[in-house]
Amino acid sequence: MFSKKMQEALNDQIHHEMESAYIYLAMAAYFAEENYPGFTHWMKMQFDEEMIHAFKFYDYIHSRGAKVVLQAITQPPAEFDSPLSAFETALGHEQKISADIHNLYALALEEKDYPSLSFLQWFIDEQVEEEEHVGGVVEDIKRVSGSDQGLLMLDRELGQRLPPSPEEE
Ligand code: FEO
Repeated sequence: MFSKKMQEALNDQIHHEMESAYIYLAMAAYFAEENYPGFTHWMKMQFDEEMIHAFKFYDYIHSRGAKVVLQAITQPPAEFDSPLSAFETALGHEQKISADIHNLYALALEEKDYPSLSFLQWFIDEQVEEEEHVGGVVEDIKRVSGSDQGLLMLDRELGQRLPPSPEEE
């Protein structure tokens, strides 16, 4: 049974994923303006990934014969204090998204909605990776303690990020 409550919660998640994409696009713009092409690239890749996540929920809702209802997206910040502050904000955001996914999973469990449980499993695993990746960048930035040379090296490294793999889609 695909309850109204579950449908609404999944629609909310499209909104959360689109909002994530928008926040990462704002961070990409900030990094471009601060002359960090690698961090900019990384954030654009993150934007693409979040859009893929949003579409997964969109397609899933349709595949269960339900209605997609889109919501307004909040304006993201235009400024960040530093690269560290931007990536710490990103980490906090990913932790919130993980909690959203866990709440969805708990609801599907409560409702014995087995197709949704199966669908959400991918996101549970994905969020472990997301937090690990973003948390790793936060740690790396802390390690270079704001040194220009260290940040330049990290910027080059993050500029190598590959586009989301076909398994993501
Ligand atoms: Fe779609 Fe980064 O959570």
